[in-house]
Amino acid sequence: MSGEGPRGWGAPLYAAVLDATAVGPGTSVLDLGCGSGLFARAAADRGARVTGIDTDPAAVGRAAAEVPEGAFAVGNAQDPPPGPFDVVAALQLLMHVADPAAVLAGMRRAGQGGGRAGSGAVVAATVWGREQECDVRVFGEALAPWLGPRPPSPPSVTDPDRLREIVQRTGLVVERLDEVVCPFEYDDEDELLGPLFESALGRSVGRRAGPVALRAAVLQHLQPYRTAAGGYRLQNLFRVLVARPA
Ligand SMILES: C[S@@+](CC[C@H](N)C(=O)[O-])C[C@H]1O[C@@H](n2cnc3c(N)ncnc32)[C@H](O)[C@@H]1O
Repeated sequence: MSGEGPRGWGAPLYAAVLDATAVGPGTSVLDLGCGSGLFARAAADRGARVTGIDTDPAAVGRAAAEVPEGAFAVGNAQDPPPGPFDVVAALQLLMHVADPAAVLAGMRRAGQGGGRAGSGAVVAATVWGREQECDVRVFGEALAPWLGPRPPSPPSVTDPDRLREIVQRTGLVVERLDEVVCPFEYDDEDELLGPLFESALGRSVGRRAGPVALRAAVLQHLQPYRTAAGGYRLQNLFRVLVARPA
């Protein structure tokens, strides 16, 4: 799983990337920061030949198990394997690296000589939307009383203007920047709260607030997202960037 939400949430995002980059039988795809291989699985299911790298050896092991027909290795997205590839993808990676421009430049390099006409692979990346565009911010709002003031954060790739500016600096031309809404669905309170209580942040706040107060605060903030069936549904916006070499 992606570690970012409930199992299966990424399916619409993967489909949007695969559609926008026209992945089909025989397309060669490089998946940077492949995680557990769920996007790679979706690409392989369309007949693509997938190569994936991730800095986390455990994730690489899970990806190899998820997509036995793929080729996976431990590696840094800033130094990707040489292509040529038709598509160079990085899903939910750019927010997690210190230098997103270096990753995008690496993606452009990995795509050199690739693509259908040899003019360079299509580059695709996904990012979270802005905080106000994603209902998951409500978890942070619930925990805020125990977290203290947040330090000001520098402009991030979740800001579409900032993302466009970084991309253009790396010698890529933005072809499209689409928006995809991915619902995070939880069947019940346990499914909603379990991952939070298991996370480092949840454990830390739980020690300070006590588990009962933490549970009450989260459930109160998430009340507006309750479904008639007793579950929870959070709508989160993601952006799909598609770019080509200049
Ligand atoms: C949020 S997960 C996304 C995983 C997967 N792409 C997905 O969408 O489900 C981010 C992944 O990027 C990996 N990662 C972080 N920095 C990286 C880097 N510099 N090079 C390659 N992988 C990296 C992490 O180990 C993690 O598996």
